[in-house]
Amino acid sequence: MAEGQLVLGIIGHPVGHSLSPLMHNEALRNLGIKGFYVPFEVKPGEIEAALSGLMALGVKGVNVTIPHKQAVLEHLDQLDPVSAATKAVNTIDFDGGRVVGYNTDGAGFVASLREDAGEEVGGKRVLLIGAGGAARGLAVKLAMEGVSEILVINRTPEKGEALVKHLEAGLSYTHAEFVPLKNDELKELLPGVDLIINATSVGMGGGDELPISPEGIDDRHLVCDIVYTPLKTPFLEECRRRGARTLDGLGMLIHQGDLAFQIWTGKRFPAGRIRRLLMEKLKTA
Ligand SMILES: NC(=O)c1ccc[n+]([C@@H]2O[C@H](COP(=O)([O-])OP(=O)(O)OC[C@H]3O[C@@H](n4cnc5c(N)ncnc54)[C@H](OP(=O)(O)O)[C@@H]3O)[C@@H](O)[C@H]2O)c1
Repeated sequence: MAEGQLVLGIIGHPVGHSLSPLMHNEALRNLGIKGFYVPFEVKPGEIEAALSGLMALGVKGVNVTIPHKQAVLEHLDQLDPVSAATKAVNTIDFDGGRVVGYNTDGAGFVASLREDAGEEVGGKRVLLIGAGGAARGLAVKLAMEGVSEILVINRTPEKGEALVKHLEAGLSYTHAEFVPLKNDELKELLPGVDLIINATSVGMGGGDELPISPEGIDDRHLVCDIVYTPLKTPFLEECRRRGARTLDGLGMLIHQGDLAFQIWTGKRFPAGRIRRLLMEKLKTA
């Protein structure tokens, strides 16, 4: 690679659908930083070789996506506190020969809540729907930020229970509870909740399925969906009709990218430009 060029990228399998190259290349161009951001298709089992190769080639950093977020852990020299507690990494920095892992997903959500919805998470009572990788990243960050309660709902109860145990064991966070998904009970819980987050993939790519019954959701609630294809998920639309404030998943996507970009370059994304670019792209997707 030419000297003075910053090379960044993303490793995943598949990786072709990722919007990260679009965001980061626009940021590099807009800020006048010479370099580029490349999608690297890396098969499971080839992570170690890929990381050594990327470091040898002088790549500065990569994002990590499905299915490698957990598998990369054993190949890193150091983890930041959030990725260590989450046990998943979405950003790697090749820092002078050391391979350092970060997880900016949860912080991206918290930043979106603050900057896009004007809300702080501290003290909030949260209903978290989902217990997959994204839900775990959110739960860990929310617990670290001092939310007063996390109620977890998930289709597969064992995974929901495992998430609660993960928070207890890893962070000594004792205010999380798994709630078996029964809609009549759910309705009774809702008056005691401030923030409702859909962190399942329900609503992604069309269809009118909702992650939970919206009955009981009203203007007391801020409802967030981390799905961003489509931006207006049926769940957000239904909650909005019921008077709730809503926040879509685009802000989290942009902020997690911005935080990774800051780790690599020390500079912030031109956020407004990137938001417009992604909105345009998602409209035509
Ligand atoms: N905005 C952002 O920046 C951002 C960042 C990361 C992820 N995301 C989005 O978040 C979503 C989840 O990602 P992930 O990595 O956590 O995926 P994942 O690890 O595969 O977890 C999927 C979650 O969705 C639940 N689920 C899937 N289909 C369901 C259905 N039909 N009914 C009820 N629950 C269902 C799963 O429940 P079970 O445990 O029962 O299988 C699990 O809790 C994806 O849409 C992804 O695009 C957005």
